[in-house]
Amino acid sequence: MKVIYPGSFDPITNGHLDIVERCSQKFDKVILAILNNSAKNTLFTVDERLKILESCIEEYDNVEVDTFSGLLVDYAREKGITTVIRGLRAVTDFEYELQMALMNRELDSELDTLFLMSSSQYAFLSSSLVKEVAKYDGDITRFVPKVVEEALHHKMKGDK
Ligand code: PNS
Repeated sequence: MKVIYPGSFDPITNGHLDIVERCSQKFDKVILAILNNSAKNTLFTVDERLKILESCIEEYDNVEVDTFSGLLVDYAREKGITTVIRGLRAVTDFEYELQMALMNRELDSELDTLFLMSSSQYAFLSSSLVKEVAKYDGDITRFVPKVVEEALHHKMKGDK
């Protein structure tokens, strides 16, 4: 089975990578799809995120990185994939994720969303919190891969 794991990944965290690893074990092929939306205010450009993600998935033969713009249902149709993966950390994620999954199925009745519960050690982790900790020079080594840590330090230095 082929699946799409879509997201902003701004930046990718160890929580996302935990989902990637588990997907790579369970599914034949995984496409990590980065949303390319110029209206969304992201810290990293889509090209920067693409490079970062590519370096994070080198060890997985069945995972690839791509970008998409517009609707996820259109991208999935174009790829011939009918399963989307999303991670769930806590009840607070549920409402938004349920709405998105239902809307996607309303737009394309073939498209199903499968949820993987985040591993407990990452249940508190989010890209936004990592950016905030990095902004104030906090230690983010436990939360993101080395490549992201370096990229964040670089960005934050540029901002000062
Ligand atoms: O990492 P994120 O920001 O929670 O990911 C959200 C994402 C990219 C999965 C979602 O915003 C998305 O699929 N955007 C594309 C536009 C679309 O299809 N929206 C869903 C209709 S409900």
